[in-house]
Amino acid sequence: MEQATTDIFEEIERLKKEKNAIILAHYYQEGDIQDVADYIGDSLGLSQQAAKTEADMIVFAGVHFMAETAKILCPEKKVVLPDLEAGCSLADSCSPVEFKKFKEAHPDHLVISYINCSAEIKALTDIVCTSSNAVQIVNSLPPEQAIIFAPDKNLGKYINKLTGRDMLLWNGSCIVHEIFSSKKITQLQHEHPDAVLIAHPECEEVVLDMADFIGSTSALLNYVVKSDKKEFIVSTEPGILHEMSKRAPNKILIPAPPDNSCACNNCPYMKLNTLEKLLSCMKNETPEITMEESLRKQAEKSILRMLDLSKQLGL
Ligand code: 13P
Ligand code: SF4
Repeated sequence: MEQATTDIFEEIERLKKEKNAIILAHYYQEGDIQDVADYIGDSLGLSQQAAKTEADMIVFAGVHFMAETAKILCPEKKVVLPDLEAGCSLADSCSPVEFKKFKEAHPDHLVISYINCSAEIKALTDIVCTSSNAVQIVNSLPPEQAIIFAPDKNLGKYINKLTGRDMLLWNGSCIVHEIFSSKKITQLQHEHPDAVLIAHPECEEVVLDMADFIGSTSALLNYVVKSDKKEFIVSTEPGILHEMSKRAPNKILIPAPPDNSCACNNCPYMKLNTLEKLLSCMKNETPEITMEESLRKQAEKSILRMLDLSKQLGL
């Protein structure tokens, strides 16, 4: 490890103690950030950790909607994000004004929103979900209950297929997951006939139909760790390979190829955060996530319903 990186690590550790801060990081963050984090996880795990932390400051190494969720759950705590521009294409694909009209056009529908959305959308939502609990949450509702699902159409389609429902889907998607090439994956499968294809449910239907296992980032990680198979083609953002290769050092992990000329498929938003920006935001306690209390309160209800349901469902 380079001297400069060692120094940054030491300084971050010092600031954690001095400021009673906790670093929560998503699996798509760069490896160094994951290594310095107190907790790494998927969206559900991160929100559960945020809800129960006793730290004074939450340093959220992830994207804006994740840090915003932490702020909604912990209004009295300072929540900082290394780069405020770290957004999410999926969250951006659902404008509150348009979504409100959509909801008003279907007044008998319950609204379930994927956590990858803004606080304004959460405020218009009955129950939030993540890719870890979406199927179970939908299944916990009476079969005759009409549902709007937003904003990810790929995850929505996948849940409809699995549950036999006909949820009304918002037309949003993730720029990272919709770009995987089924053609190039098929080619890879020919070159690696024993490889298991695992995919995140934000991928397009054509990729999900090919997959041997579908799950959230945590579920994909646990699957690889527990599987007795050796080789895996991983169809999600490649940041997950950092923890996967640590926890399953003897497995061969092959990132699924995107349908463009670039060899990788990094989330451009997640990768805006760097170790240097993380250090700077801990030092300066900025950029900070703030929001109006009325919006926070309204958005909190749908997140708390998710957390309660997840507890009941043992997730
Ligand atoms: P997970 O909740 O599965 O970690 O997914 C978050 C995300 O943004 C995937 O693109
Ligand atoms: Fe959003 Fe996609 Fe990036 Fe996840 S991978 S944060 S859904 S843009």
